[in-house]
Amino acid sequence: ITKKVLMLPGDGIGPEVMRQVQRVMDWMAKKRDINFDVTEGLIGGASIDAHNNPLTDETLADAMAADAVLLGAVGGPKWDNIPFDIKPERGLLKIRKEMGLFANLRPALVFDALVGASTLKEDVVKGLDIMILRELTGGIYFGQPRGIEERDGVRFGFNTLVYSEPEIERIARVAFDMAMKRNKRLCSVDKANVLESTVLWREVVERVAREFPEVDISHMYVDNAAMQLVRNPKQFDVMVTTNMFGDILSDCAAMLTGSLGMLPSASLGAADETGARKALYEPVHGSAPDIAGQDLANPLATLLSFAMMLRYSFDMGDDATMIETAVQNVLKGGLRTADIMQPGMAKVSTSVMGEAVINELNKL
Ligand code: NAI
Ligand code: MG
Repeated sequence: ITKKVLMLPGDGIGPEVMRQVQRVMDWMAKKRDINFDVTEGLIGGASIDAHNNPLTDETLADAMAADAVLLGAVGGPKWDNIPFDIKPERGLLKIRKEMGLFANLRPALVFDALVGASTLKEDVVKGLDIMILRELTGGIYFGQPRGIEERDGVRFGFNTLVYSEPEIERIARVAFDMAMKRNKRLCSVDKANVLESTVLWREVVERVAREFPEVDISHMYVDNAAMQLVRNPKQFDVMVTTNMFGDILSDCAAMLTGSLGMLPSASLGAADETGARKALYEPVHGSAPDIAGQDLANPLATLLSFAMMLRYSFDMGDDATMIETAVQNVLKGGLRTADIMQPGMAKVSTSVMGEAVINELNKL
């Protein structure tokens, strides 16, 4: 069965970094006879320019029909002054929503060669490899009622933190599955000492845990988790948490690694009868308009997002590891794009970095 991949390069550096993924795909086809059925589509500003719409029904239909979607980035100053509801970012929000992507996977991985790029002490981050799972479609960002209202001359701004049992259960299942694929350790983060919604969260996570007796499950309050992430992040393996807590903790964990240009992500939806999930993979960074079109962008976050696609959508963990090892080796060899430049290393362009990854793949 061929694997259907929709590629959405988007704007700014999106197309430049995506081209390097295309190279790796070509390499896989040529050297390993692994072929993808690739469709390319428009999203964000590129789609606005062509169709006056950041996400057309056609692109959306392609996304729904694909086994996995790989996205570059959207946005840029060119589209800053257009109406809010057709801004590039709306396209991204819409595709995530329509695909029902409720589980956001944010790995924080420190490559040995880049330990010095983190502002943290070497022994704190060396060998760091954690996965933060953030619930993405529920919680306080979406709960009703919400708004700003005036009562008796005083204005109130309010949001509602609400989770249903099924919402918690499905994210918990993804978390336990992930833990089984990794090191069988899961930490669920909540604020069950204060928030009823997360009392239920903890209760449901505990219940799902009984189906995964091999997984070592622990619970932590979010304030402590933030502290522990900075103090001793290597105590964690997989962490699962609510939308807002995950938003904050994943950015915090990202900074442990020291570079935006190195961070991949994945967002998964519900499993169908065959166990397959809708999935969208994308680098954490944006379209970087300040360096777009200059062959300066770091393509590794997008290449690592592609590796996640292989692992989580196509059960090709060995191939994913191969790409990650190639990236590791390129860095060991001393090549750096500007964003991860360190003293004594060789500064290279986007395309040379992509080329170097291919060269390392050839050696594996
Ligand atoms: P950004 O992530 O695009 O850039 C922040 C800084 O990091 C810039 O100095 C940029 O040059 C650098 N940078 C980012 N990715 C890099 C890479 N791969 N290699 C080397 N350097 C890199 O965030 P910013 O500047 O806040 O937003 C720029 C545009 O991107 C905006 O229109 C924003 O809305 C959009 N954006 C889109 C996202 C997405 O598509 N998922 C996420 C974040 C922002
Ligand atoms: Mg955030």
